[in-house]
Amino acid sequence: MEILGIDIGGSGIKGAPVDVSNGVLTAERFRIPTPNPSTPEAVGEVVVEIVRHFDWKKPVGCTFPAIVQHGVTHSAANVDQGWVHFDAEHFLRQKTGCPLCLVNDADAAGLAEGAFGAAKDVPGVVMVLTFGTGIGSALLLDGKLVPNFELGHLEIRGKDAEKRASDLVRTQKDLNWSKWATRVNEFLARLEMYFSPDLFVIGGGVSKNYAKFGGYLHTERAKIAPAQLLNEAGIVGAAMAAKEMAAHEMAAHELAAHELAAKDLVIAELPPKKVAVKKK
Ligand code: BGC
Repeated sequence: MEILGIDIGGSGIKGAPVDVSNGVLTAERFRIPTPNPSTPEAVGEVVVEIVRHFDWKKPVGCTFPAIVQHGVTHSAANVDQGWVHFDAEHFLRQKTGCPLCLVNDADAAGLAEGAFGAAKDVPGVVMVLTFGTGIGSALLLDGKLVPNFELGHLEIRGKDAEKRASDLVRTQKDLNWSKWATRVNEFLARLEMYFSPDLFVIGGGVSKNYAKFGGYLHTERAKIAPAQLLNEAGIVGAAMAAKEMAAHEMAAHELAAHELAAKDLVIAELPPKKVAVKKK
């Protein structure tokens, strides 16, 4: 089964069809820079352009870099404020005309790493962290996602963790790998104290440079592994989320059809109504 995965990021919006049985992209990625300001209307237009590029009419999975609860976006740390408490899934469904599932970007990365990457078949508690414009986090328990862990906003030294240790901050402050890793280690130590994960998966834009900083990272107990899907994690994870949505919707349709059929059966079984005939 192929699903179109779209990854809405701080600098680019990328899409590609994904074979959800193996997490492989079946066509070349198509990327458009994220509009500025990144209002729902402007971003929606780009999503439509990507859907049109692939002439897509089937289910779509789409990431968003904010809290996404039941299709509604509830925060906007690195995007236009118009997304706060916005029924984004419904909006994008209407714009694209496709069945569409919206998922937090780090949660998508978690789903992808859990299914095909560094967290595949790893039991226990796995934390997938994405370092990019912000810091995203996903929690997997025995491979199952617990959505909307917003740990990039944990306060460290009076600041959001992502304002100290994101990849954007590394480049803005021109931190060398070891200096940046010291900040990341402080974050990991805090997470380890609160959650005791068995494994940290380090993902996001920075993960392609893992060889340069991986050696500086350390924890007390948790293992650390680089993400394996690199910049495809969002696209693949979005498609995985939409696969679950499609399965649920199909099941709901089947249930509705079943209930309807059962009703028909009951109606058919009712004895014909007696019509009172007035005697003259
Ligand atoms: C947002 C998260 C997102 C992360 C990575 C944070 O600022 O609050 O929802 O997952 O950035 O994009």
